[in-house]
Amino acid sequence: MTGSLVLAIESSCDETGVALVEDGRRIHANVVASQVALHAPTGGIVPEVAARAHLRWIVPALDEALAAAGVSVADVDGIAVTSGPGLAGSLLVGINFAKTLAWAHGKPLVGVNHLEGHVYAGWLLDPGEAARDAPAFPLVALVVSGGHTFLVEMRDDLTYRLLGTTVDDAAGEAFDKVGRLLGLGYPGGPAISAAAERATAHDRVFPRAWMGDSYDFSFSGLKTAARRIIAEARAEAGLPADATGAPLPDELLAELAWGFQDAVVDVLATKTIRAAEETGAAGIVLGGGVASNEALRTRIASAATARGLRITLPRPGLCTDNGAMIGAAGARRLAAGDLADLSLDATPTWPLSRVTRG
Ligand code: KG4
Ligand code: ZN
Repeated sequence: MTGSLVLAIESSCDETGVALVEDGRRIHANVVASQVALHAPTGGIVPEVAARAHLRWIVPALDEALAAAGVSVADVDGIAVTSGPGLAGSLLVGINFAKTLAWAHGKPLVGVNHLEGHVYAGWLLDPGEAARDAPAFPLVALVVSGGHTFLVEMRDDLTYRLLGTTVDDAAGEAFDKVGRLLGLGYPGGPAISAAAERATAHDRVFPRAWMGDSYDFSFSGLKTAARRIIAEARAEAGLPADATGAPLPDELLAELAWGFQDAVVDVLATKTIRAAEETGAAGIVLGGGVASNEALRTRIASAATARGLRITLPRPGLCTDNGAMIGAAGARRLAAGDLADLSLDATPTWPLSRVTRG
């Protein structure tokens, strides 16, 4: 290893991530301890439970990452940690851990915006993966996760112009809520995507909120419409209103899942392509958990390619929360001299538009 090595820590939500990333691109280790199974019985994240699980897993995750990369903390050139946005208690576990390591080993420390991490996942290379060009500027990035949905224009590294954002629910939140209405487990996104794949009829139309000519998004109306459409479908099939004990027949479930997913994908893809064209972008970068959705990936990739736009789609494991993406963004923040000291604190609310430098 000859480049600059960053140790990166992510604990903003329900994944404990520790990674080692060289030169902001090459992954040497990327350990993710998922709490999905822990939160499944409650159908969502209980913040106190999440924070305790981060405490339990962060040391084993560091040990595993160091062993996988064959390095020790003394070998790293800097430490990057997610300092917001996210759950305060969860963020503080990673922040205090990173501060302790930085202090004990005399390493530079940087606090990274989690959303900036989702954007920079597109720059990562897996261990052994052939080198490829980094995404070229100017570009448009769509970040779609459980907590956030926005479009930004980037004309250079670490600079963002907010084009549009959700005025209510995040796209992932809509997937999770409609997943529950369909009687699917938590998280709803992967379950809806799998059910939609099985659909043979594709004629259930769910409403799209276009928000005029803006690049903003709205998903709460779709969720309300989904509640009504699902209730009507259950009544037509002679099923009781309550999903517990009387699940939807698989064919009907698949049709409804497809209709909902198609409405979300249609709006996200249409606005992203239009934003790329109207801003004169060279390409599009996708990030966030919902960017692992196959229908969204296929739709945006084919529309982008048809227009000569370069498309960057991180593999699904790099779209959902992980430490490597914090290493990719953190390396650039360290190089820019955006250093933190031991007073680094959690910033639970921290929109990407306010990250802009200068
Ligand atoms: O980025 P992420 O791991 O965590 C946040 O920062 O929020 O995103 C999690 C979200 C969840 O809402 C989950 O349902 C959604 O991403 N998600 C998906 C898929 N995989 C994960 N949504 C749609 N299709 C998928 N395949
Ligand atoms: Zn995330």
